[in-house]
Amino acid sequence: MTRVALTRVLPDAGMALLHQAAEGGELELVVWPGELPPDASELAVLAHGCHGIVSLVTDPIGAKLFDAEPQLRVVSQFAVGYDNIDVLAATARGIAVCNTPGVLTETTADLAWALLMAAARRVVEGADYVRAGRWRTWAPTLLMGADIHHATLGIVGFGRIGKEVAKRARGFDMRILAFDSQPDFSAAGDLGVELVDLDTLLRQSDFVSLHCALTDETRHLIDADALAAMKSSAVLINAARGPVVDTNALVDALSSGQIAAAGLDVTDPEPIPADHPLVQLENAVIVPHIASASIATRGKMAQMAAQNLLAIIRGQRPDHIVNPEVLN
Ligand code: GLV
Repeated sequence: MTRVALTRVLPDAGMALLHQAAEGGELELVVWPGELPPDASELAVLAHGCHGIVSLVTDPIGAKLFDAEPQLRVVSQFAVGYDNIDVLAATARGIAVCNTPGVLTETTADLAWALLMAAARRVVEGADYVRAGRWRTWAPTLLMGADIHHATLGIVGFGRIGKEVAKRARGFDMRILAFDSQPDFSAAGDLGVELVDLDTLLRQSDFVSLHCALTDETRHLIDADALAAMKSSAVLINAARGPVVDTNALVDALSSGQIAAAGLDVTDPEPIPADHPLVQLENAVIVPHIASASIATRGKMAQMAAQNLLAIIRGQRPDHIVNPEVLN
């Protein structure tokens, strides 16, 4: 019997497809019941004898697991990013790795924008101020922040999500810069975006928003030197992956006033403990990796992750596969 492991319960739209396949006798489902992810040994037990795994960004999956489970045919990730999966090791063993691109693009751009606005206009500080009973009068200099309209936005990673962020910036009459190692000149032209090198982007931007994948090249792309190149009034947004930013350097830059503020959907470490120095800073707005978390989008992601997995199990071509070479 084909066995499929889920490392967490997915939204209903995905669960329904998998339960239907299970009820039809096509597969047997094993679902990790915890609210927290399985640790490595729990994952090894969960995945034992499985032909498919539906994984999350919190599940490190690599050669050790693949070697222990030679029958494994597919790892279907419930996310667009898949840096938690050793794709090279999967490909070498003919295991398909699938993901959920496209459906979360706009939702993620919306959240990046929410962070940008919250950090620029000190929305969380303001809400805390009211909740703490400190609002006694209208005051001329209370909680002054940075203008977003007509400012310069620098987008690092001009892929699907970066482009949606650029679209939103047009509504704010911003000058838009972007850096990407594989620049899309045609989209840049259409969106009125200037493609520049990273140093120019860091030096000229009032807002720097990160939308690149985490790779060996982008790990700590925003380090102490990069932060030093930014304006002291600049705001950094990270809705990509935590390790793209050097956390210690960011804490230094935010506490010394080297940059003005940060809005973070992702952190390193993740989750970040409440007593971490970054969390203690008033000029850091941090949310718990929720960029794609609209009800509609998480439903579509669940459906896509289930469909990708079922396609491989059924010997069909999935809509979204990271390593299509394994299908040949
Ligand atoms: C979430 O972080 C994703 O990659 O979809």
